[in-house]
Amino acid sequence: MKLFAIFGDPVAHSRSPLMHNSVFKHLNYKACYTRVHLNDGSKLRETFFSLGLSGANITIPHKEDAFKACDEVRGFAKLIGVVNTIINENGKLIGYNTDADGFMYAIKEFSNIKKVLIIGAGGTAKALASRFAQDKIEVSILNRTQTKLDYFKEIALTCQDWQSYKTAHYDLVVNTTSAGLKDDYLPAPQLIIEDILQNTSFVADAIYGKLTPFLTLAKNKNLIYKNGTDMLLGQGVLANTLFVKNKLKIEDIQFFMQRSFEL
Ligand code: ATR
Repeated sequence: MKLFAIFGDPVAHSRSPLMHNSVFKHLNYKACYTRVHLNDGSKLRETFFSLGLSGANITIPHKEDAFKACDEVRGFAKLIGVVNTIINENGKLIGYNTDADGFMYAIKEFSNIKKVLIIGAGGTAKALASRFAQDKIEVSILNRTQTKLDYFKEIALTCQDWQSYKTAHYDLVVNTTSAGLKDDYLPAPQLIIEDILQNTSFVADAIYGKLTPFLTLAKNKNLIYKNGTDMLLGQGVLANTLFVKNKLKIEDIQFFMQRSFEL
């Protein structure tokens, strides 16, 4: 029996155990997926090994620590320095990032996206900004403080904080901050958020399982929006294919993972 886990802080709200266990159970794959509340991201590697895990997912706020914890990082995760999936390959930790492609999967019905505003400047924002840039989509970043903006300035993206915010039109605005996850905050002051929503066609929030204050405002303005559930499903399917080392069909993984959302 293989053991997998999700690391995060907070982690009690995570649906990943339900999603992955639904796949393992229905496809008779001998594995179990649990959750681990981790305060100190620097303890990720030793905790992973002490639990005898075969693989893990990593969520807020440890995705950059997860990158540091790996022996080798592959694919898109290497480009952005952010890891959300770790595989134990013969005692070596191999890191991947399945968030960005999961997000593209989630917004596939949003048409003609050319200009995107990302709110927040953490690991999720890095992943999405680089993924959009790959598709030649113009990206701007808005963050509460200047401190985390350096990475985005280096890859020549337009960066603003709350003080320097200026009105512009975007096709899509994405909240990647944790504002609204455990509290009722908007990801920026209300005046700014109102202005942003006035000037966009589509809205998305990486937070799942609830309608955040940000999405509530978007809904009240009749904007088309997505919460993080579809993004979560996309990243989960891709992570699961890595966990089972491609031994299960991706269509079957997707079917049973999707079903876990309907319970
Ligand atoms: P992750 O790696 O999952 O993206 P993170 O690295 O902890 O998470 O990044 C969280 C982001 O959300 C940061 O950009 C943070 O802003 P600061 O750089 O100013 O700290 C932003 N954030 C968190 N709580 C917020 C809040 N209440 N309002 C606005 N921004 C918030």
